[in-house]
Amino acid sequence: MADRKQATCIAPVNIAVVKYWGKRDENLILPINSSLSGTLSTDQMCAKTTIAISKSFQRDRLWINGKEQDATGKRLQNCLREVRSRCGSEIEGCHYHICSVNNFPTAAGLASSAAGYACLGEYFEYKEGITKIQFTIRQGSGSACRSMYGGFVKWEMGNKSDGSDSIAVQVTPESHWPEMEVLILVVSDKKKGVSSTSGMQTSVKTSKLLKYRAESLVPKLMTEMETAIQQKNYQAFAEITMKDSNQFHAVCLDTYPPIAYMNDISHKIVQLITHFNQYCGEYKACYTFDAGPNAVLYVLAKDVPQILSAVCHYFPCTENHDSYIQGLSNYSDVKEFPKEIENTICLDPIPGSLTGIIHTRVGSGPRVILDDNESLLGGDGLPK
Ligand code: DP6
Repeated sequence: MADRKQATCIAPVNIAVVKYWGKRDENLILPINSSLSGTLSTDQMCAKTTIAISKSFQRDRLWINGKEQDATGKRLQNCLREVRSRCGSEIEGCHYHICSVNNFPTAAGLASSAAGYACLGEYFEYKEGITKIQFTIRQGSGSACRSMYGGFVKWEMGNKSDGSDSIAVQVTPESHWPEMEVLILVVSDKKKGVSSTSGMQTSVKTSKLLKYRAESLVPKLMTEMETAIQQKNYQAFAEITMKDSNQFHAVCLDTYPPIAYMNDISHKIVQLITHFNQYCGEYKACYTFDAGPNAVLYVLAKDVPQILSAVCHYFPCTENHDSYIQGLSNYSDVKEFPKEIENTICLDPIPGSLTGIIHTRVGSGPRVILDDNESLLGGDGLPK
């Protein structure tokens, strides 16, 4: 297929420490507050996506984790429409085939669409030479713009009505704070929650707390968080991260009807981290929760063994010990939890409450893979 253009990209997941929640413009995807996130290493968690475009394709098609999905959805089509209008006649009459896989369990319910759209962004920049691609991929997932860079990244809300100053920029590269690691505690929960997109719409309509947070609290939080990261001040970083997560979930409860993303296990994790930090007399771990029950802990490398032993003691696995911890460490690295601390943490172990733990770190941004063998689409334009 001589007319076919194709490339494969890898892009990271990002986890916000100052959360984005609410849009002031639903068409341009402009947020009502700035946000800041850590980009997670693609070694443990990433989306890998092959994008091909050809005149011989009859229609746009999309496969995610081996299953064909509806490619006519509004957000994907908005994104592709914008790319088509920016590329002009060059791609007229062509259709896209997009095939994406995640290298982490999708059942984990972890935000993978940001990584998927960041792959598209990397492709469009590389293959079509489109600049300012973040404005386009935000049509797919707002927070995807923060996955376009490694390290810590902020998405400035901007003030202009055309959105031209609402832009994601890198705060520090991944090399700045290499000790910053991440533990994702995947909470067992079959329930399908409210999507971020519709949740934040209801919050914007009904929560006065959201308005107050966006206007009066986030600007200061953003400055304080940036300083904490620049100065590698973990104590300040941890406190802001936990307070911001608590505040975001308070906004969700202030929404009417209320939205509860955290479940009982999420709250037990908060209790464990709080008591453990209190026992230590300083922050050793901080938690943050997105639009679901999973906890993400930002922890300095030196404290990871201790935190893992606490998590495995209170949330022990009941089966498959070998795969309970994935990534930078494994189950056999975990030491027994010291008895003397146990007495000060008022929590009973809850076996089987986590499906697993992913140990990763802050990492780099998206990249194009030049090796054609890595392509997810075969010569016929269909998944291999
Ligand atoms: C709770 O980027 O998924 O993870 O713009 O509607 O696609 P849309 O929402 P999305 O929202 C992410 C919300 C969050 C907080 C954050 O990542 O900042």
